[in-house]
Amino acid sequence: MNVLDFAERKKSAEKISMVTCYDYWSARILNQSDVDTLLVGDSLAMVVHGYTSTVHATVAMMATHTAAVRRGAEDKFIVADMPFLSMRKGLLPAMEAASNLMQAGANCLKIEGAAGHLDIVAHMVESGVPVMGHLGLTPQSVEAFGGHKVQGRGSQAAAELTDAARSLQQAGVFALVLECVPAELATVLSQELSIPTIGIGAGAGTDGQVLVLQDLLGMDPEFKPRFLRHYAQGYSVVHEAVNTFHEDVCAQRFPCAQESYT
Ligand code: KIV
Repeated sequence: MNVLDFAERKKSAEKISMVTCYDYWSARILNQSDVDTLLVGDSLAMVVHGYTSTVHATVAMMATHTAAVRRGAEDKFIVADMPFLSMRKGLLPAMEAASNLMQAGANCLKIEGAAGHLDIVAHMVESGVPVMGHLGLTPQSVEAFGGHKVQGRGSQAAAELTDAARSLQQAGVFALVLECVPAELATVLSQELSIPTIGIGAGAGTDGQVLVLQDLLGMDPEFKPRFLRHYAQGYSVVHEAVNTFHEDVCAQRFPCAQESYT
């Protein structure tokens, strides 16, 4: 998959799949999978580093994880998130952040929001950096939203979101993530826009879907928002494997002769 394939997939009505990936070992597995594209999301601040929001992701953190993912997934199209406020400190710092992430191995950058940085988005696109937009519940603005709340509900909010999506398309983004917006709005937007939309908590009418890998693997059985489907019982698999190892060590069943050097 390359950046041009996104438009082709929209034209042929073939859905696009994207999952987050933050490290080398999972990148190696995903590189061998059928998934279309990997997202080094700033959600890594929460999932990997244990922070309470994505506000804690930095450019250095994003570059380190992007490079690790690239080493593990040579063949995949990699999207990297521009982290919190990296677009809001002026053109030069934004372009420096962009060059760090692209040099770390990203194929494109994902940028949350539209108002106030459309000119920088357009400059990046003109400079040869493919940009993916992200609207709706943009987690970097969680404090401004007063929590993780569905966005675009009601005619005024829907109209604002629609305007923002049109402006991003105008600025040159090649695809747009829609997070936690009513399914009807996401469907209408996906039909109107010429660029593909990739939804998370945005219903079935978008041109693709994205999930956080650890969420879809069920690594936290208690995290089950409405939009999430657990495709595995990852927590139980890891928990049981580690407990079995522990029991084998205590009972002196591990290692056996075949697992020891002569
Ligand atoms: O950082 C992330 O994981 C994301 C997805 C939720 C779209 O931006």
